[in-house]
Amino acid sequence: SNQPVYRATTTAPVNIAVIKYWGKRDTTLNLPTNSSLSVTLSQRSLRTLTTASCSPSYPAEDTLNLNGKPQEIQSSKRTLACLSNLRALRKSLEDADSSLPKLSTFHLRIVSENNFPTAAGLASSAAGFAALVRAVADLYQLPQSPQELSRIARQGSGSACRSLMGGYVAWRSGELADGSDSLAEEVAPASHWPEMRALVLVVSAEKKDVPSTEGMQTTVATSELFAQRVSSVVPERMTAIEDAIRVRDFPKFAEITMRDSNTFHATCLDSWPPIFYMNDVSRAAVRLVHDINRAVGRTVAAYTYDAGPNSVIYYEEKDSELVAGTVKAILGTNITGWDGPFYEPLANLTAP
Ligand code: PMV
Repeated sequence: SNQPVYRATTTAPVNIAVIKYWGKRDTTLNLPTNSSLSVTLSQRSLRTLTTASCSPSYPAEDTLNLNGKPQEIQSSKRTLACLSNLRALRKSLEDADSSLPKLSTFHLRIVSENNFPTAAGLASSAAGFAALVRAVADLYQLPQSPQELSRIARQGSGSACRSLMGGYVAWRSGELADGSDSLAEEVAPASHWPEMRALVLVVSAEKKDVPSTEGMQTTVATSELFAQRVSSVVPERMTAIEDAIRVRDFPKFAEITMRDSNTFHATCLDSWPPIFYMNDVSRAAVRLVHDINRAVGRTVAAYTYDAGPNSVIYYEEKDSELVAGTVKAILGTNITGWDGPFYEPLANLTAP
């Protein structure tokens, strides 16, 4: 038969939080206990590539293939929520204009590929859900802004809402119970701070110990440090880091970034039973960054860690040799348990 196939392809970048999202106040809608802020990385080294297609000839049900493997999307409430939100938006376009093909009635085929290890604490779910939402929104020719689409991506994976924009992106926690004000917002475009670089150290490419959703639930329910993090520590840091970004104050940006990573991991250690994401190699990288900063006499590097042992080190281009050079020379050869590779320094500076 001569059935049409409609198709759209897109890529989405990884983002690495400098103020961490950790804790849900609503697990169905993925509403966070606190606001967070991230830097969107360049797509040259880390990105998800996704093609979405639909056709009246596609049988049975929507399908998703990730890195060559079919995924069970019917049991993934998160994926289903994203797709049903996107379909509803397409349906309202079709209801308003009867000349449009009825794409909302066709089954979807989504094919997605990461160029980096999945689920190793490299924010693969962020890039993955951002690319899925962007690809289907493009396929459906939806007029919604990236900010409006962030509300949908958030339901796939919280951190995904920050990967629909480039540069420095805040996810405002919002207050409403329906999540309509829990959205990503660009604080500054990547071009605002062209010197900014990130080095990703893949300490281990293994799957992480405790999945983020489960870890968050344990921390929210059991950590005594957590309440203080949410009520005062994070709100103060959000304001301070946005100020630092505005005036490109690297030492201030760096100190807040390192302290927030440490506070996040402290609430994990304070959870019951305790959760460990960093390992000996991660801690060696922390010491090394402090040693470099002390030796240079100013803050030239900042580490941060997500729900896994891998380090991301932020620095400015002018300090590239000092930071990236030293980290590679020392960690690459002198640390046992090192599982490499280094991703080359990334300019953080490509809009998605
Ligand atoms: O988006 P999730 O549910 O995988 O949570 C990510 C949580 C952290 O990566 C640890 C922090 C963050 O803000 O990205």
